[in-house]
Amino acid sequence: MRFNASTILEITYGHEVTQQDDEFVRLATQATVETAMAGSAGSVIVDFFPFLIHYPSWLPGSGFKTSALKTRALVRRTIEKPYQQVKERLAQGVAKPCITSQLVEESYRNGTFQEEDKIIEGVAGSLYGAGTETTNAILMTFILAMVRHPEAFRKAQDEIDAVVGHDRLPDLNDRDSLPYLNALITELYRYHPPLPLGIPHTVNKVDIYNGFTLPEGSMVMANIWSMSRNEDVYPEPEVFRPERFLDLTKTELDNIDPKDFTFGFGRRVCPGRWIAEDVVFLLTSRLISTMNIGKSKDVDGREITPVYGFTSGFSSHPKKFPYSITPRSAQVTHVVSRTMLET
Ligand code: HEM
Repeated sequence: MRFNASTILEITYGHEVTQQDDEFVRLATQATVETAMAGSAGSVIVDFFPFLIHYPSWLPGSGFKTSALKTRALVRRTIEKPYQQVKERLAQGVAKPCITSQLVEESYRNGTFQEEDKIIEGVAGSLYGAGTETTNAILMTFILAMVRHPEAFRKAQDEIDAVVGHDRLPDLNDRDSLPYLNALITELYRYHPPLPLGIPHTVNKVDIYNGFTLPEGSMVMANIWSMSRNEDVYPEPEVFRPERFLDLTKTELDNIDPKDFTFGFGRRVCPGRWIAEDVVFLLTSRLISTMNIGKSKDVDGREITPVYGFTSGFSSHPKKFPYSITPRSAQVTHVVSRTMLET
C-alpha cells in the first residue's frame, strides 16, 4: 500500500514518501476513508433528488449533508497542501518534474493559469483516491488468490525462475516472456473488478438503449460486475482460473479481455490504466520471484484457508484475511538490496 501511495504522490507532486508516517499519505488515506463513509458516488439521496441540496442542515434527516460538508473540508485540505507545495517549489526553482509542475508551467506559458489554477489542483487531487484503492484492491486479490490456489502460485513461480533466474528481479522487459503470469494477472482483473459499478456517468443528450429512452442528464452506471460474470464468455465465472486466458491468439484475447471493462469505458476510461498495469506486473512478478505466499496456521498448527470475502460499496477489496508471506531464501534478500542500491 505504501508503494502505491508513494508512486502516485511522486508522479503527481514529486513528493517522495520516506517514512512510515507521511503527512500527505495520512491526510489522503483519511480523506479516502471519510469520503467512502459519506456515501459512494451515485448512491446518496441527493444524487437522485438534486433539489435536496437546499435542504437545511439543521433539520432531521440532513445527515447526508453534514457528513458531506465535513468530508469536503478534509478533502480540500488534502488536495490543497501538496498543490501549494509544488507551486512554492516552482517559484523557488526547486520543483521536481511531476504532473502538477508540468501542468502549472504549461498553464503559465499559455497565459491561462488564472482560469486553470483550481482545475489543475482538482486534477492532481483526484489521482490519489482513484489510483491507490483500486491498485491495492487488485494486489490484495492477488495475495488472496495465491493463498487459495497454491498450484497457480507454483506455476507462476516456476515460470519466473526459468525465465528470470535467481540473480535479478523481474522487470517490465520480461513481460512478453511470462505467458502464465500474464494470464494470471488478466484473471485478477476479471475475478474482482475494484470498481464493480465503475464511476457514474451522465447522458449529455437523449439516448435510446434497448428500447429505453434515457432523457438528457440521466445517471448511467455500467454494471462491470455482471460483465465479469458473463457465463457465455467466462464459463464458471466464480472459479479463479488463469488458464482461461492462456494459449489464445491476440484476436481471441482481445475479444474477451476483462481490461476492456475493469478500467471503464469511452472518453472517461481510466487514464491511470497503463501505470496500474505496470505496477501490478512489477509487484506481482517480484513478490512471486522473492517470496513464498501461502496459508497461515492456527494455534493447533492447522492451515487456514481464507474465504473469498470482499467489501461492498463503490470500491471493493478483499476483507482482512490470514496469510503467510516469507522470503524464499537469504539470496533473495541480497538481490533485493542490490536492486534497491542500483535504482
Ligand atoms: C487496477 C487499478 C485501477 C482500476 C481497476 C481502475 C479503474 C477505473 C475505472 C473503472 C474508472 C471509471 C472509468 C469510467 O468512468 O468509465 C477509473 C477512472 C479513473 N482512474 Fe482508474 N483504475 C485503476 C488505477 C488507476 C491509477 C493508478 C490512476 C492514477 C494514477 C487512476 C486514475 C483514474 C482517474 C483520474 C479516473 C477518473 C477519470 C475520469 O473521470 O475522467 N486509476 N478507473
